[in-house]
Amino acid sequence: MIFVDACFGKKTPYTPVWMMRQAGRYLPEYMAVRAQAGDFLSLCKDPQKACEVTLQPVDILGVDAAILFSDILVVPLEMGMELKFLQGEGPIFSNPIKNQADLDKLSVQKAVEGLEYVYETIRLIRGKLAADKALIGFCGAPWTLATYMIEGQGTKTYAQVKKLIYTNPQFMHALLKKVTEVLKLYMERQIQSGTDVVMIFDSWAAALEESAYFEFSWSYMKEISSYLKAKYPHIPVILFPKGISGYLDKIDGDFDVFAVDWSTPIELAQEKLGHKYVLQGNMEPTRLYSQDAIDEGIEHIVSVMKNKRHIFNLGHGILPDVPVENAKYFIKQVQTLTKI
Ligand code: CP3
Repeated sequence: MIFVDACFGKKTPYTPVWMMRQAGRYLPEYMAVRAQAGDFLSLCKDPQKACEVTLQPVDILGVDAAILFSDILVVPLEMGMELKFLQGEGPIFSNPIKNQADLDKLSVQKAVEGLEYVYETIRLIRGKLAADKALIGFCGAPWTLATYMIEGQGTKTYAQVKKLIYTNPQFMHALLKKVTEVLKLYMERQIQSGTDVVMIFDSWAAALEESAYFEFSWSYMKEISSYLKAKYPHIPVILFPKGISGYLDKIDGDFDVFAVDWSTPIELAQEKLGHKYVLQGNMEPTRLYSQDAIDEGIEHIVSVMKNKRHIFNLGHGILPDVPVENAKYFIKQVQTLTKI
């Protein structure tokens, strides 16, 4: 598998490429399946349909890896929290965690078992996906999940969850520990079900100052990664802490690929981390609105990463109103221009 080879820094015939959120609303085929399923969570819980939308970008765009169709928030959901996705408003937990009693109600084992529909989806996908294409499993970072579990929804200020960090750090650590326990077992079950690679999304990394970031987020991501690498050394681990270009000097740990977000100059990431990790990324996703902008974006990244260890991707998820033609163009250009 070219994608797995690239994750381990081996030479490949071209730089493999995929896109974050590649199975999503910009594809009419996705919208059709989602309409059949009813809503987004029903789609996540329906292995046949989740398998179908996972495979769509592989068939339509020719990406080198499929990413499991699911969401990071199914973990707190199956731990016992109530989750709704409201149209146009994003995810909402109606009973956010306020205290130890709320935390005590959440169950590690119930979550790991309750996520069976994800494992079934993975088995179905791996049965249908071409043997040379990788399947990426994923979870959210404990910190990013905690922001939703405490705030109850997306937030601009992170006031509630950051208040906990500075007023009751012990409780914050207790919550993060419990989520980390679930995620270790959840990722392990994903691997046993057939994922070839796993990725941890820390989408809200940039909400924290440096010392808090390493204490409340990176340490837990590293813990999950070390656990998986010790047991499954042949499965590459990708970590994506979004928006922390100022903290790159302190990045360490046992993982394979560092995913670079679009706000971090790729030359800076290469200088600070390229000798330790394979880099993934990082074209600015809104370049997908223009084919000239795509060409320019690819050209710059190739000029820095040529002959270096690299996987092509966007620096965050593709947006719902991007023309499918441009997404196809991006994938094809990367695969053509990086050929050796
Ligand atoms: O194609 C893929 O990348 C795989 C599927 C995937 C989804 N969510 C599907 C999804 C993945 C990897 C995620 C991860 C995820 N979910 C993250 C981390 C990655 C990132 O983007 O930073 C986060 C923060 C979430 C939480 C989440 N899920 C939000 C904030 C939203 C609403 C925003 C929106 O775009 O509507 C979702 C919903 C969601 N997850 C959609 C998809 C395709 C849109 C649902 C729909 O309307 O069909």
